Amino acid sequence: MYKMAIVGFGGMGGWHRENITQRLSDLLEVKGIYDVRPEPGEKAAGLGLHVYQSLDEVLADPEIQLITVATPNNFHKEIVIAALKAGKNVVCEKPVTIRSADLEEMIAAAKESGKLFSIHQNRRWDKDYRTVKQVIDSGVIGEPYFIESRVDGSRGGSMYGWRGHKLNGGGMLLDWGVHLIDQVMDMIKSPVVEVGAHLQSVFSPEVDDNIKVFLRFENKCSVVLEMTTNCFISRPRWHVTCQNGTMQIDDWMGNGRIVQCKPDSEMEWGDDIVYTAAGPTRTMAPRPPETTNEIPVPEVDVDWSDYYRNIVGVMDGNAELIVRPDQALRVMKVIDAAFAAEETGCAQKVNI
Ligand SMILES: NC(=O)c1ccc[n+]([C@@H]2O[C@H](COP(=O)([O-])OP(=O)(O)OC[C@H]3O[C@@H](n4cnc5c(N)ncnc54)[C@H](O)[C@@H]3O)[C@@H](O)[C@H]2O)c1
Repeated sequence: MYKMAIVGFGGMGGWHRENITQRLSDLLEVKGIYDVRPEPGEKAAGLGLHVYQSLDEVLADPEIQLITVATPNNFHKEIVIAALKAGKNVVCEKPVTIRSADLEEMIAAAKESGKLFSIHQNRRWDKDYRTVKQVIDSGVIGEPYFIESRVDGSRGGSMYGWRGHKLNGGGMLLDWGVHLIDQVMDMIKSPVVEVGAHLQSVFSPEVDDNIKVFLRFENKCSVVLEMTTNCFISRPRWHVTCQNGTMQIDDWMGNGRIVQCKPDSEMEWGDDIVYTAAGPTRTMAPRPPETTNEIPVPEVDVDWSDYYRNIVGVMDGNAELIVRPDQALRVMKVIDAAFAAEETGCAQKVNI
């Protein structure tokens, strides 16, 4: 059993405590928290947790072997480096930093300390993502060449509080973009060679809040990532076009459809011309249903607590780290390039 502390006990810090306590009590005990504000301390005391009065006090506690950092983004670097230097294992919330250069300093500190350093890219354990990844990995519909991954919100000014400030590392690209980029980079085993971005600020004067990111991988796979907060007709979570079929995953629970051509069902050139209001088309004529097959979407068994089970496995010395800092560095380099693409108005040629 490892004892741990949480630094930053707001929404996400509280979520870590609750889920670790409910689902991982055989492996981890949240001993205490540190937060700069008194209110989270009062809440933590009410939950029977030790309330540290400073970060130094957390770092000086020899019982604490793991620290989870869940402060606003701009504080991650300083806290993570201090914790690693104090000989603690560290899990840091996403986005691990605001720019990739900061992460390089954190990675150097982790190497020097020899301690575990991981980033809480928890959406690798979301069911929609795992379903898409499992289907692609199985090869059943072949290689993907167009991937669309989007989260459509309709709550308007969602970049509230510190998320609305540049200084704090606010904005949608760093908040949700980091998840969607991490997912596709985890799935597509090829370097990113081009990054484009349209980062719009519809509600938030300082930061981006409705965004599109365009990635091209060296293997030619082309990806569109979209995040909105003002979309009242939600689109499917994923739409993936592969060499031998199409997959649409509608929601977070992985519901959707996979459709492919029946073997030997190529249509004749003269079949089924469609006449739109203004002209004929063969190319875009819908395929007769008898020429396609629907493949069942697999039921994927996925459990977020495997994230921390892996952390404990690494601390025990019998597992390989799943979410590694070098992967986060690639993601942060893509984010740097996306900001540069918005600033310059030009897609960035990269090799990430
Ligand atoms: N992985 C996910 O699904 C997910 C979801 C939400 C938030 N997050 C991440 O979690 C982090 C926190 O987000 P949140 O929504 O909980 O924010 P929040 O504002 O609810 O909580 C942040 C807490 O950190 C405290 N804090 C600020 N500076 C501090 C410092 N220097 N030392 C100690 N405490 C400090 C604040 O007082 C506050 O209680 C962010 O990095 C965010 O991106 C991740």
